[in-house]
Amino acid sequence: MPTSPNARHQAQHRPFDILLCPLCHDRLKPVGQALRCPSRHSFDIARQGYAGLLAGNRRSTGVDTASMVQARTLFLQTGHYAPLARTLARLTAALCPPDSTVLDAGVGTGYYLAAVLKALPATVGLGLDTSPYALRRAARSHARAGAASWDIWQPFPVQSHAVDLVLNVFAPRNGPEFHRILQPSGALLIVTPTPQHLGELQRHLGLLSVDPAKEQRLRRTLSARFQPDHTEALKYVMTLTAQDIEAMSFMGPTARHINPDVLRRRIALLGTPFQATASFVVSVYRPR
Ligand SMILES: C[S@@+](CC[C@H](N)C(=O)[O-])C[C@H]1O[C@@H](n2cnc3c(N)ncnc32)[C@H](O)[C@@H]1O
Ligand SMILES: [Zn+2]
Repeated sequence: MPTSPNARHQAQHRPFDILLCPLCHDRLKPVGQALRCPSRHSFDIARQGYAGLLAGNRRSTGVDTASMVQARTLFLQTGHYAPLARTLARLTAALCPPDSTVLDAGVGTGYYLAAVLKALPATVGLGLDTSPYALRRAARSHARAGAASWDIWQPFPVQSHAVDLVLNVFAPRNGPEFHRILQPSGALLIVTPTPQHLGELQRHLGLLSVDPAKEQRLRRTLSARFQPDHTEALKYVMTLTAQDIEAMSFMGPTARHINPDVLRRRIALLGTPFQATASFVVSVYRPR
């Protein structure tokens, strides 16, 4: 594990320190309730604590809605994905110095970012997401967490080589940008569900299934810039109540494809508590 303190951490070490102006790419500084660059481009910090960098440029597709974020919050509170949070905390503690900077791309409510920050006592984390509902929660997920609205598919308003760890959990990936913002000694941690994940429920409820070629495709798209370091498989059985299943179904893309009443009827027919498999792969990559 690297131990030497990093020079850039010495003066200030706050999540917004790594941000650049999305318009002119100069440094941003906090001024009152905004971030401002020397050319006076200004971006509000919302009352809920996240920086609005995507202003006027907001994507409307693929963004988690208020009800999806509410369902995600409810489901994560049940603790059924706590083993994944613990795995990420353990891996990051082994990969990063304690005073690192972590960027979580597609941070959601900040559940995993907060778990990682708890494991690294002087580390700060910045979460990017397009969903204002998710960002509100992410900004408050941990005292050392910050959040900013950004579209992962666009060049990140983040300094080059400013990040020790990029975290990407069930969210879109931008390999070239992950590579640019990472330190050469940094790491990229990606979590993907395997085809067994929630297999029992998919059959009964018509949830969207995981593409079996996903892991292979992931490796191919990252291979130009990243070297696979190691992977960890995590598989366990969850005992789910009807409420757990409903929250889990409504927090993901299925929410956009199935009528909620149809889904509720199918859950009622299942018989609960219901046992379902959780199955993830955590992949660690190093920049080439
Ligand atoms: C399945 S959720 C995962 C959230 C979080 N990582 C977790 O596991 O709890 C995917 C997240 O990616 C965000 N997202 C989707 N497309 C995005 C994009 N183009 N740029 C930034 N965030 C995006 C969604 O708003 C959502 O919060
Ligand atoms: Zn500017």
